[in-house]
Amino acid sequence: PRIFVPGDSGALALGAEKVAKAIEKELADRGIEAKIVRNGSRGAYFLEPMVEVATADKGRVAYGPVKPSDVKGLFDSGFLTGGHHKRWLGAPDKIPFLARQTRLTFARCGVINPLSLDHYKAHGGLKGLQNAVAMAPAEIVKQVTESGLRGRGGAGFPTGIKWKTVLDTTADKKYIVCNADEGDSATFADRMIMEGDPFVLIEGMAIAGVATGATKGFVYIRSEYPHAVAIMQKAVEIARKAGLLGVNVLGSPNAFDMEIRVGAGAYVCGEETSLLNSLEGKRGVVRAKPPLPAIQGLFGKPTVINNVISLASVPVIMDKGAAFYKDFGMGRSRGTIPIQIAGNVRYGGLFEAAFGMTLGEIVDDIGGGTATGRPVKAVQVGGPLGAYFPRSLFDTPFDYEAFAAKDGLIGHAGITVFDDTADMLKQARFAMEFCAIESCGKCTPCRIGSTRGVETIDKIARGIEPDKQIELVTDLCNTMKFGSLCALGGFTPYPVMSAINHFREDFKPAPVAEAAE
Ligand code: NAI
Ligand code: SF4
Repeated sequence: PRIFVPGDSGALALGAEKVAKAIEKELADRGIEAKIVRNGSRGAYFLEPMVEVATADKGRVAYGPVKPSDVKGLFDSGFLTGGHHKRWLGAPDKIPFLARQTRLTFARCGVINPLSLDHYKAHGGLKGLQNAVAMAPAEIVKQVTESGLRGRGGAGFPTGIKWKTVLDTTADKKYIVCNADEGDSATFADRMIMEGDPFVLIEGMAIAGVATGATKGFVYIRSEYPHAVAIMQKAVEIARKAGLLGVNVLGSPNAFDMEIRVGAGAYVCGEETSLLNSLEGKRGVVRAKPPLPAIQGLFGKPTVINNVISLASVPVIMDKGAAFYKDFGMGRSRGTIPIQIAGNVRYGGLFEAAFGMTLGEIVDDIGGGTATGRPVKAVQVGGPLGAYFPRSLFDTPFDYEAFAAKDGLIGHAGITVFDDTADMLKQARFAMEFCAIESCGKCTPCRIGSTRGVETIDKIARGIEPDKQIELVTDLCNTMKFGSLCALGGFTPYPVMSAINHFREDFKPAPVAEAAE
């Protein structure tokens, strides 16, 4: 039998390594020969470490969350043949959290051995690239445009149009850069796919190369993701040996090769031009746009810079066609989005779904409400620069335009849940403080504004003319929103103003008498 124990960093953080060791020991003690596969996670983190056994008659059977102390009992209960035990979950794809998803980008994540190209191919991998190498570049770009895919890093810019700009710009050298500097709070989709299905990202980048004439790719991974770095490095070597990368991609006349680069821990290096500076070995300071990276990007050459999930979504589009992908979703938000549910929530994890579910469904129904059991007060959608939504906005569908219409953003689709003990004034202060710490310092509204913002919110907390201070913060937020060079300073007003507008009661200082006690 084959036993699957996730080697993904989310599962490791929850003790998967100790569980794997305990299983190894139990196998040795009982003299049983079985292979332990270190798969990625399926993303139901509330069930991790989730161990699976491939049985002869019942298919895969899952158990979780498994503790090392459970292992002996599992074997006693006939775990290798899918026997019942208090941790028994049954067929993984029948677990409600997983069964309700639409897995297009994450179809293989948690299912296969991440570093087995054979598994990858057996589960539909490489078909997209095979189709792409037989097509003209403009035809590939057309497919990606028609699929409706938009940048999953957060800005939602149409991927096909970005690729077209690079294709149409003549140059002696072009690059594909993958932004894996996943810095947003509550986000882990990039990490999960790199650790659970690295070849899908490599395939997506190779397709981008073939489509635009770029011959070199870089994946810029944040230093906080050492496991992802290690797996991606191994996967690139395997892909190169197998002829997926190199001078003749899959035997075609197209050349494409790639490298992994590691960041140094600055949030702003997730901003594309800052990332390019960092890749070039310079300080990670934001560049003014124009020129767009698509025209003058890495080393001044036309560069496609896409988020991990944007690139990893391309193989399924090139395999099943633009119409197939476009069929999912709503409005101008087509396909699926990996929603990352985190914070104070009962069922935290990654939930890939077609656009269009309401925020309420995601938080109450899929996420099961708060982990503390207290009422949900606020949900921050889109990372530390996203707006706080109150329950009254829970009918907002997960869609780029619908969120923008409510002064919010879906960003990289991370959502952080807060219960009724959250103090929204503190959260607003945190946003300004975060901006002050992470500011690259290039422009004044962000560099100075964020520090003044912290001071002004502190005055509100101390009860010093709160109404006047709120007016000042509002004015400051307008300056930051419209005067900052990049999204760090430009989007900090979202969490601040949403906290003020939706949770005004938290911005009223305690009565002086009480405060003095
Ligand atoms: P943007 O709207 O300036 O640009 C979006 C992308 O489209 C860029 O790659 C830009 O170069 C490209 N582009 C624009 N016009 C183009 C054209 N005509 N041809 C080709 N390419 C074109 O947004 P920006 O500043 O890149 O990103 C802001 C977003 O980043 C926010 O919405 C936020 O949600 C997200 N974000 C994500 C984080 C994460 O960890 N994933 C962290 C922080 C922010
Ligand atoms: Fe730098 Fe902030 Fe200006 Fe962005 S908004 S360029 S991070 S100073």
